Amino acid sequence: MSSPKFSLIVHGGAWDIPAAAIPDCRAGIRHALEAGREILARDGAAMDAVEAAIIVLEDDITFDAGTGAHLNRDGRVQLDAIIMEGASLKAGAVAAVERIKNPIRLARKILESSEHMMLTGAGAELFAQENGIALCDPSELVIERERRAWQRCREGNHSSEFHFGHNHGTVGAVARDVQGRIVAATSTGGTCCKFPGRVGDSPLVGCGCYADAEAGGISCTGHGEAIMKIVMAKMAADLLRNGAAPQAAADECVQLLANRTQSTGGLILLDRSGRPAAAFNTSSMAHGYLEPDGSVFISP
Ligand code: GLY
Repeated sequence: MSSPKFSLIVHGGAWDIPAAAIPDCRAGIRHALEAGREILARDGAAMDAVEAAIIVLEDDITFDAGTGAHLNRDGRVQLDAIIMEGASLKAGAVAAVERIKNPIRLARKILESSEHMMLTGAGAELFAQENGIALCDPSELVIERERRAWQRCREGNHSSEFHFGHNHGTVGAVARDVQGRIVAATSTGGTCCKFPGRVGDSPLVGCGCYADAEAGGISCTGHGEAIMKIVMAKMAADLLRNGAAPQAAADECVQLLANRTQSTGGLILLDRSGRPAAAFNTSSMAHGYLEPDGSVFISP
C-alpha cells in the first residue's frame, strides 16, 4: 500500500468522558485536525502542523492543557509540554511553567534555539522572556470550573469527579508532512491537586512523547506515574522499528500498561509511513485522524 501524502492524528486524553462532554471533545478534536490539515495541505511542515493543532487544544478549556487545566494543591496551574522531531531526534520540553499561555510554543522555541532539551519553572519562563515569548498572568489560565473543583477538594477529600472526570485530559498530536518529516507533541496540566512541582510523563522524551523518522511518532495520555514506569512512547517506537503493525504496537503498549502497572491510559501514533493507530484502556479516548480520502475520523 502506498503511503498517504500527509498524515495527522490528535488526542484530547483517555478518560471516562461523560456523555455531556462528548460534543465539546469532538469539536475540539475536529478544530485541531483542521488547523493541522490546513498547514499540511499546502505542503507545510509537520512541525508547524503539530504546533498549530496543539495550540487549538491548549486554548480549548475542554482539555487538561493550557487554559482550563487542573489546579495543583496550591491552586495554581502548572503546565508541561514537549515537541520532538523524528529525523534529528531533537526535542524541546518545558515543565511546571505557570506564566505561559501556550507551552507548546515555548517547547518548540527550546527545540530550535536552545542547547538544552528541557527547561523547568522559572528558568523556562526566563528563556521565554529572552526569546520573545510573552508571559501571561497565571490567573489567565484558571477557569471557574477548575477553581470550583479545587475548592471542593480542599473542603473534603480530593476527588477526580469534581474535576469533570477528566483526570487524563492531556492533549497530543503527531504529523507526517509531504516530505516525510515526522513530529510528535504532548501538552498537559497534569493531575488535579498534584503536589507543586510534580511532573508526569508528558514532557519526558520516551515517556509521554517520542518521534523517530525510522520508526514513527507517538503521544501518550493517562496516569503519568504509570506511563513513566514502562517508558511507553519509546516502547511503541521500538515495536514499530522492529516491524510491528501500527495497531499491534499501540495495543501492546496499553496491554503492558494495564498488566505491569494496573493503570489506565492510551496513546496515538503514526508509523514512519504515516499510518495511524490509537489504543486505550479507559472507556474512551478523545482522538481523531485524517483519512487518506481527506475526511476525518473522530472518536468518541
Ligand atoms: N499524563 C499526564 C500526567 O500524568 O501528567
